[in-house]
Amino acid sequence: MIQKIKGAEDILPKDSYKWQYIEDVARDLFERYLYQEIRTPMMESYDLFSRSVGDTTDIVSKEMYDFYDKGERHIALRPEGTAGVVRAYVEHKLHGPEFAKPLKLYYIGPMFRYERPQAGRQRQFHQIGVEAFGSVNPATDAEIIALAWHFFEELEVKNLKLYLNSLGKPEERQVYREALIEYFTPVKDQLSKDSQKRLETNPMRIIDSKAPEDKALSQDAPAIIDFLGDESRKHFEQVQAHLDALNIPYTIDPTIVRGLDYYQHTIFEIIVEDDSIGAQSTVCGGGRYDGLVEQIGGPAESGIGFAIGMERLLILLEEQGIEIPAVEPVDIYVMGLGEEVETVTLQIVQAARQAGLIAERDYLGRSMKSQFKTISKLNTKLVMTVGEQELADGLVQLKNQDTGKQATEKLADVLADIASVYRKHTMDTSVIDEFFKGGF
Ligand code: HAM
Repeated sequence: MIQKIKGAEDILPKDSYKWQYIEDVARDLFERYLYQEIRTPMMESYDLFSRSVGDTTDIVSKEMYDFYDKGERHIALRPEGTAGVVRAYVEHKLHGPEFAKPLKLYYIGPMFRYERPQAGRQRQFHQIGVEAFGSVNPATDAEIIALAWHFFEELEVKNLKLYLNSLGKPEERQVYREALIEYFTPVKDQLSKDSQKRLETNPMRIIDSKAPEDKALSQDAPAIIDFLGDESRKHFEQVQAHLDALNIPYTIDPTIVRGLDYYQHTIFEIIVEDDSIGAQSTVCGGGRYDGLVEQIGGPAESGIGFAIGMERLLILLEEQGIEIPAVEPVDIYVMGLGEEVETVTLQIVQAARQAGLIAERDYLGRSMKSQFKTISKLNTKLVMTVGEQELADGLVQLKNQDTGKQATEKLADVLADIASVYRKHTMDTSVIDEFFKGGF
């Protein structure tokens, strides 16, 4: 038997409606903030990610699915969404005068990272992400963070905490980098193996390492905040002031550095405080990437965004017992009994669907008893039964599943105007009954 690839998951009908629900909530919310959808390819050139995410990051150096295609092009499956969106923004000149500014885009789709699979961590996973281009205003940082926060509020997720930090400008980070090298070099031997390597390639990653020895040594390490210049400091303070004004609670955490190289200024993560998703507690990560558009060949335009991990969010909703509206009940189930009614049952379901109703029938010649099992499984509202006798008499038997009330209608009337028949036999009359109970 051929099985799915390790770290990739099938999304079965028992779950796909939950994905659709989350996507609907996201699309509806993004619309209110004027974000428009962009769909970029899942394959991009390898260079795009090595230049943006950075070739010393774990994502590019260890986790990327890359290969040479039959034309000897070096291709990568996208490990994240920002780089592709920036490439499209530059390639299609979305910074041009005919486009809105800031230009706000969102995407929903699969990403690929060769990581060790576990709950909430997959090799093919899905992100919902947004990117806004062309505004350096700290109010845009606040708006982006408010949007992420609002999204979780709409879903009624609890126990989330927002962590903020600022990475300042590249030149400030360069000085910080030197300070970190100076701080960690004398204790290099005590760092984890990975962090010993990071000391040369990417010393900031030591700060957010999960290894206990690195954590202990990082405690008194220099903090980036102390290396920010006046302008960066002011930007960060304004972001905080805006968040205060919007009543969005946050914690400044100097150990957040993010695992992608393109960030500048504001970075943030939203983390689950309880242990609902175990070790993979970061549901959302993002930040500002002001130099990236230029680096990819566009004008000096700023950018900021975030991405939410769908799998982690779904685990979280499940663990927190948040109900996702189930699939719609079936309006009409046509119970056909006998071969002679094959055609007429097909005509009835077709008429129902054309009238905008959700309808189903049996195709397996099943008994009444087993059809009734399906009827209750589908949460059916109205059953229409046609057997040989009904067909001969030109009639259809009806049963309202909620009230148990039964009735008979002419087959010709059902076929001519099934919507009216459906309404007549399913309308909730209890309100009207209640109204008239006392008499006039
Ligand atoms: P990231 O922090 O690498 O950022 O990923 C964002 C989110 O994707 C994570 O917080 C997590 O929820 C989810 N995620 C990441 N890797 C996996 C995995 N292997 N399995 C399941 N979920 C995962 C970015 O990707 C940036 N592009 C975000 C961004 C957008 N920054 C600015 N704009």
